Amino acid sequence: MILITGGAGFIGANFVREWFARGDEGAVVLDKLTYAGNMANLADVRQKPDLHFVHADICDRTAVQQVLAAQRPRAIVHFAAESHVDRSIHGPAQFLQTNFIGTFELLEAAREHWSSLPAGERDAFRFLHVSTDEVYGSLDEADPAFCETTPYAPNSPYAASKAGSDHLVRAWHHTYGLPTLITNCSNNYGPYQFPEKLIPLMILNAIEGKPLPVYGDGRNVRDWLYVTDHCAAIQRVLENGRIGQTYNIGGNCERRNIDVVRAICAALSAQRPKPGGYESQIQFVKDRPGHDRRYAIDAGKLASELGWRPSETFESALAKTVRWYLDHTDWVAGVRDGRYRKWIELNYGDGAPKPA
Ligand code: NAD
Ligand code: DAU
Repeated sequence: MILITGGAGFIGANFVREWFARGDEGAVVLDKLTYAGNMANLADVRQKPDLHFVHADICDRTAVQQVLAAQRPRAIVHFAAESHVDRSIHGPAQFLQTNFIGTFELLEAAREHWSSLPAGERDAFRFLHVSTDEVYGSLDEADPAFCETTPYAPNSPYAASKAGSDHLVRAWHHTYGLPTLITNCSNNYGPYQFPEKLIPLMILNAIEGKPLPVYGDGRNVRDWLYVTDHCAAIQRVLENGRIGQTYNIGGNCERRNIDVVRAICAALSAQRPKPGGYESQIQFVKDRPGHDRRYAIDAGKLASELGWRPSETFESALAKTVRWYLDHTDWVAGVRDGRYRKWIELNYGDGAPKPA
């Protein structure tokens, strides 16, 4: 089996679902269930006998060691992180703790586990670190897209904490020989994304009749990738990536924020028409401090070495995403009113069943 950290968050939960859809190997999800972790994200796969869940913090090395000793995974796919740039601006400490220290603790536990494996299992072991294109900083309009050799220039506390974690992973390979892989991906969207991120926030605000807050002039550019395409790329790198290498993952789909918001309004008008449409709700608001202007990924290495290409187009996948949020009112309500947090209290709080 494999160990998936952060598997009850947006991308991690989609990865778990895809993992079980594509094969019969088991998985153990290790997640602290912060505000971004939600067991409802795993509702439809939760009953799989080969899916195990451990409520733990990656910063707790002992807890991670226990899971590794008990489950003996052949690989770790590391998603767990604080992931929202705006939150990192307001409170960077938790980002350093989880993304940097947490990755360090996980690497140390992984190294100990890997060293203890018999030779064949040791050779087959992989530590795949899921990272972001934000480590490369910001592009000007005419700059070429980020490739794997682009120098690191992180601009936000989030990006700096992820860059630091990438450096740790690289060093643990270089110094100790831990068989690592790193992926740096562009902006994801799709089902189960927490509505603090641009696309779900705009969909939900639009249908609730609230303002659609576009930062600055709305001309910042992101390179959008549907989440299941990201998951497929990670799986491809896990199985066939060269040890110690980095692979950039992107959708070759650059869009200005204002155009993304307009596309959401158009998709909503098609699926839930309302008189006058949704665009009148758009409001330009104060810019994000240090707001990166443009991200773009050159995913040529992944395409040429491992044959991966995105299978979704932005227009159809955005329409699917809008449909998902319209259809999943229970999930949305649970997230909006905080009900999903009660699961933690029920299972792990004072009222939880006690061990015999
Ligand atoms: P998310 O915020 O939706 O989920 C993060 C998950 O990690 C949650 O389940 C949370 O409970 C868990 N977690 C947080 N701190 C933890 C800790 N200390 N111990 C254990 N679990 C913890 O994030 P996401 O958008 O799914 O991103 C997943 C990963 O992918 C992150 O590493 C992020 O940097 C990276 N990434 C995200 C995007 C994107 O567009 N969302 C793009 C590229 C890379
Ligand atoms: O590039 C990959 C990164 O993409 C990931 O590593 C991060 O985890 C993920 O959160 C995302 O970061 P961004 O900052 O690009 O995503 P976000 O959805 O927060 O914002 C996308 C763009 O939209 C960005 O230019 C800021 C803008 N924005 C965002 C929000 C929430 C707005 O204009 N208004 C908003 O309300």
